[in-house]
Amino acid sequence: LTGPATAAAARPVVNVAHRGASAYAPENTITAFELAGDQRADMFELDVQETKDHQLVLMHDTTLTRTTDAEKVFPGLSPWNVGDLTLAQIRKLDAGSWFSGEHAGEPVPTLGEALRTMSGSRMGLLLEVKAPDRYPGIETRIAAELRRNPRWLSPGRLVVQSFDWESMRRFHRLMPGVPIGLLGTPATAELPSLAEFADQINPPYTTLTSAYVRRVHGLGMEVLTYTVDDPDDMRRMMSYQVDGIITNRPDVLRGLTDA
Ligand code: G3P
Ligand code: CA
Repeated sequence: LTGPATAAAARPVVNVAHRGASAYAPENTITAFELAGDQRADMFELDVQETKDHQLVLMHDTTLTRTTDAEKVFPGLSPWNVGDLTLAQIRKLDAGSWFSGEHAGEPVPTLGEALRTMSGSRMGLLLEVKAPDRYPGIETRIAAELRRNPRWLSPGRLVVQSFDWESMRRFHRLMPGVPIGLLGTPATAELPSLAEFADQINPPYTTLTSAYVRRVHGLGMEVLTYTVDDPDDMRRMMSYQVDGIITNRPDVLRGLTDA
């Protein structure tokens, strides 16, 4: 027996719940993270940004309008940037109603809350530093929060990633023991110098090739690809020998890998 299907079956792939099990619950909330555990994800992913008063909160967009009721609660605060509101203001927001009435009143979590609430989970954490150019010093504050929650620093439990590779160089200097992921698709010529501090290259699946995966593996790094929700695409990524798949539907991927 040869061919992609056999290779896919033979190689375990890390199942990463993108913003939690975000096809089924509002993204970047504790409910979505807990559901990811119920669906037997291996890791959950979240996005960290910073409030006006330098508190770390979980939010994907740099504005609050898509996933909260900020426009209604604070009509005068346009354009509702995460970094323009204090934590006390952001805590007044509903981060669940946009998704469904069933989730009304779901709060925007802080990073500390997520680390504490999920610390007993068997899942690992893929922590994305989102738009760090907007938040000078955010790497230091994330490192401090992780040190307050040292269970996450156990080997194999945490990866910190960003689209901003310079931010990741800074984070690596602060916490050299924490594996680093680089989001995007670096040119192959850039990969050797990035391998000096990165452990993962995490590209979108749409442009990924098996040759690129082999190149990254040849430099001793892993590949986690995003955001893969269709079973055929999941199978194709597994045939490329990726190390992990980041999905809004961890139950679908689990169904394939356990089949
Ligand atoms: O973890 C990969 C993925 O989260 C990167 O894209 O835009 O969903 O944060 P985005
Ligand atoms: Ca993300």
